Amino acid sequence: MHIYDLDTPAVVIDLDVLEKNIEEMAAHCRGLGITLRGHTKSHKNPEIAKTQVAAGSQGIVCQKLGDAENMAKNGLDDVLMTYNIVGRQKVRRLAELARFRRMTVTVDSLAVASGISEQANLDGVTVGVLIELDTDGNRTGVLSPAAAEELAVQVQELPSLELRGLMTYPSRLSSKPVIQETVERFTNRGLSLEIISGGGTGEEWESKELGFTEHRSGSYVYEGLSRIQGAQGNDGLSPERCPLSVVTTVVSVPTADRLVVDGSMKTFQLFPTMPWGLIIEDPNLKFSGISVEHGHVDSSGTDRKYSVGDKLTVIPTYQEGVTNLHDEIVWARNDEVVRIWRNEGRGKVR
Ligand SMILES: Cc1ncc(COP(=O)(O)O)c(C=O)c1O
Repeated sequence: MHIYDLDTPAVVIDLDVLEKNIEEMAAHCRGLGITLRGHTKSHKNPEIAKTQVAAGSQGIVCQKLGDAENMAKNGLDDVLMTYNIVGRQKVRRLAELARFRRMTVTVDSLAVASGISEQANLDGVTVGVLIELDTDGNRTGVLSPAAAEELAVQVQELPSLELRGLMTYPSRLSSKPVIQETVERFTNRGLSLEIISGGGTGEEWESKELGFTEHRSGSYVYEGLSRIQGAQGNDGLSPERCPLSVVTTVVSVPTADRLVVDGSMKTFQLFPTMPWGLIIEDPNLKFSGISVEHGHVDSSGTDRKYSVGDKLTVIPTYQEGVTNLHDEIVWARNDEVVRIWRNEGRGKVR
């Protein structure tokens, strides 16, 4: 079936481009001499995660337990959870995963570590732990090398936890002194640094420079190496490097310079930045806005004429957000449908 014969809006992933992106990032990290750990938040699909692992990813990263469960039940192992796991329901689920998978979690407080330790101990499992250090991400993470050392010592003493090292996000060279001091403190105290994990697509080189053992990248599956090579025109959106697109249908042509398509806020989430996406069939068409159920396209820049029923394929600027909105994801090669996936990772926010 051709992708234009799908009911719309339809999320389509071009497998040739996806596989190229996965290969290229793996080769990039191999060239740098840093281990890649693929982040699955971007695609939420166990088969894509397996392709990442086959290309050289050391295990996977998840941020939500729901994603980790979906990955683990589909055979993926060595899962790093870069999120504070808090609350009785969640620590139970984590301990359950640790029964049959190697699990490592990040923590930034004794409260988080204690909750996990208590449940792991009750269930007779071991959970690996990385201390999260804030490197100006202003999100989670302890705020100083001394605080990282103190928490690592506490974690070492908690039952059923195994200290495995350090984690930070993003990987920034400006944080080098802080990271060096933390590494020195860990080394002097004999604290494990089996893993030092950095992250962020486009910052693989920085992780290497900072002396990290591994780098977590996620969005590269959808963006290719655009952040490394510098985005060109239209924020680097192009069918050659962006495998994910959304096929939409023109549902109205209200004026000579306006079209309305059935891709909307509920299809694309909110595009975070201009130019809001590239329309593959006619780059002179500009997405001028989205409302809840309608997509607004400015057609004043094109000579072509459009009619109700025409198909327009959009590469959105925020592909990860799109992945999380749709029940079905279509895989295609050369615009022919290969497989329609039930998107099991969708909405796994817990
Ligand atoms: C903790 C953590 N690691 C790694 C990443 C990967 O970043 P990217 O999607 O830019 O590859 C993210 C992205 O949000 C993150 O939050």
